[in-house]
Amino acid sequence: MTRANQNAAEPKAVVERMDRLAEEGRLTSRNADKHWLYQNSVQNPEVEVKFIDRVFANEFGRKPTLLREDFCGTALLCGWWVRARETNRAIGVDFDGPTLDWGRVNNLAPLGAKADRVTLIQDDVRSVRAPKADVLMASNFSWWGFKTRDELAVYLRNCRASLKPEGLLVMDCYGGPEAQVVQEEQRDQNGFTYVWDQDHYNPITGEVRCLIHFDFPDGSRLKKAFSYDWRLWTVPETCDLLRECGFSRVMVYWEGTDRKGEPNGVFRVSDKGDLAPAWIAYMVAVR
Ligand SMILES: C[S@@+](CC[C@H](N)C(=O)[O-])C[C@H]1O[C@@H](n2cnc3c(N)ncnc32)[C@H](O)[C@@H]1O
Repeated sequence: MTRANQNAAEPKAVVERMDRLAEEGRLTSRNADKHWLYQNSVQNPEVEVKFIDRVFANEFGRKPTLLREDFCGTALLCGWWVRARETNRAIGVDFDGPTLDWGRVNNLAPLGAKADRVTLIQDDVRSVRAPKADVLMASNFSWWGFKTRDELAVYLRNCRASLKPEGLLVMDCYGGPEAQVVQEEQRDQNGFTYVWDQDHYNPITGEVRCLIHFDFPDGSRLKKAFSYDWRLWTVPETCDLLRECGFSRVMVYWEGTDRKGEPNGVFRVSDKGDLAPAWIAYMVAVR
């Protein structure tokens, strides 16, 4: 196991400058920082912290303390986790050193002493087992990089071995007929447009290639800022595999809808999904 090198040439803090450029409508493909763009369009750590607390309390009647964020990238969730409670500690695992360094400078350093309660580990998520965590979180579908049953099983078994006796693994996933359609979806953000590009789908292997581009007010595009080579795992096959890998119980938290039938952001345990054309859900596995 190697810890990300703290002495390597580190990236500069960019958040304030990016916030200002976005506010002034002056972001372009040349001056924008891709991690800042990603965090501002894809991630919602405040909501995830509350979700983790709720799911854990539902199971064990108390709050968790030690969170391990697998595929942590810039460790944004780790930062929000230690901000949430004085007793909270977080471990972030990612094999990409420069991304961890970006997170250290931009997400952890601004937390001051609270950042001492975050440990970042530069390694493959399948190789880290200690210290044992209350909750393991694998979000934004990153576990879909494991494309065979055997590969995914190695990861899931390692997750189980990394949990305390009262421990949960939380993984997100998406699906619905639109997940298999080659298409681009755009969403306006403050100062830029986020573009989710489902570039390729292979119905035989279930493999998908997804890209993230960012468009700017001056007409420029940051093309393929992120690309993902995944297998679109289904909920039932993943739940079966979780049980095979020793998890004692597996639940699906499905998103509710408002009066107009639109997703309402509230996820509850369910064994009956609705036929939304596109949905996001969480699988929660009890050690
Ligand atoms: C989509 S980002 C996820 C960032 C963040 N956790 C989120 O929720 O948006 C995926 C990250 O997973 C990392 N990654 C992919 N496979 C990995 C593996 N086997 N072990 C460790 N990190 C991995 C990549 O380096 C990348 O930073």
